[in-house]
Amino acid sequence: MKRMVSGIKPTGELTLGNYIGALRNFVKYQDDYELYVFIANLHCITVPIEPKELRKNLKDAIALYLACGLDPEKCTIFLQSDVYEHAQLGWIMTCMSYMGELGRMTQFKEKTSNATNESISTGLFVYPPLMAADILLYDADYVPVGEDQKQHVELTRDLAQRFNNRYSETFVVPEPLIAKVGARIMSLSDPSKKMSKSEESNKGCIYLLDDLKVARKKIMSAVTDMEGRVNYDKEKQPGVSNLLEIMSSLSGESIDSIVARYEGKGYGEFKKEVADVVCRELEKIQNRYNEILRGSLIKDTLKQGAEKAHHIAFRKLKKVQRKMGIDIF
Ligand code: AMP
Ligand code: TRP
Repeated sequence: MKRMVSGIKPTGELTLGNYIGALRNFVKYQDDYELYVFIANLHCITVPIEPKELRKNLKDAIALYLACGLDPEKCTIFLQSDVYEHAQLGWIMTCMSYMGELGRMTQFKEKTSNATNESISTGLFVYPPLMAADILLYDADYVPVGEDQKQHVELTRDLAQRFNNRYSETFVVPEPLIAKVGARIMSLSDPSKKMSKSEESNKGCIYLLDDLKVARKKIMSAVTDMEGRVNYDKEKQPGVSNLLEIMSSLSGESIDSIVARYEGKGYGEFKKEVADVVCRELEKIQNRYNEILRGSLIKDTLKQGAEKAHHIAFRKLKKVQRKMGIDIF
């Protein structure tokens, strides 16, 4: 089985868009790859954050990923900071990288465009070499990431090759795996825009932890059109088409079949069924999420995950130290 590594940076609440567009793919990977998933908590502190808030975000993210189907029996889930080798190889990768190439990282440029050098943390600058270490420690073949992280994986490839050239073959050169844009779930209040947590009004965006009544209301008041028939036409009926995509991807029923069932019927009835399907899925996730937060699954998962990850990371780091001449014996 090919190996896959990915880091999760918990940033606020997850949406139905994240779930359909990304998370569910991720859950599928655990069947086809040897998957290592970690919560990138060392990457979270490159910008100031309250300890209480950070701890809650980390715990929530793990609980939600588990609730959505990541299975600790199938993949290795751990906390980045629990496996100390990340920080050390991160430093080594920092020493392997150049100011010029890190300065060209678009994420760094975007995040610092309005700030002065006196207020930008150095951590933000050396974020990519730490990410390279996360990946290279495990000899990952693939790194599933969003488009925005592709440049960081490319830097990782450069660093791996640079190390291999300088010190002999050591690291697997990984490939980014950018999921084909399958479902692109649109905002319920403005179907020309992507459903996103950064929307000003919350009406168009369903969060996985939304109260079921609130979620239902958002769907019932989703923007449609004057055509008055349930039909898939993204140009003329973007709102209805979006609801069809949501319903089809959650229920597994084809869009054609749903359209046929609603022949001659109105939007009210259709929306009610979409809301039923969405709420059923949310309820399942939320029940599992609450169960996980009450039980000891998170603690057990992280302990077992860190042990397994450490075992691999330790050996890799020893090899690196030996090649570089850092160790003596
Ligand atoms: P973001 O929350 O924008 O950082 O995105 C995290 C992941 O979720 C990325 O892989 C996105 O492609 C995916 N994603 C976010 N919003 C949507 C959406 N509305 N429809 C489909 N996928 C989405
Ligand atoms: N930088 C990634 C993000 O912002 C998170 C991350 C950290 C990561 N280390 C990684 C992703 C290693 C993949 C592999 O989403």
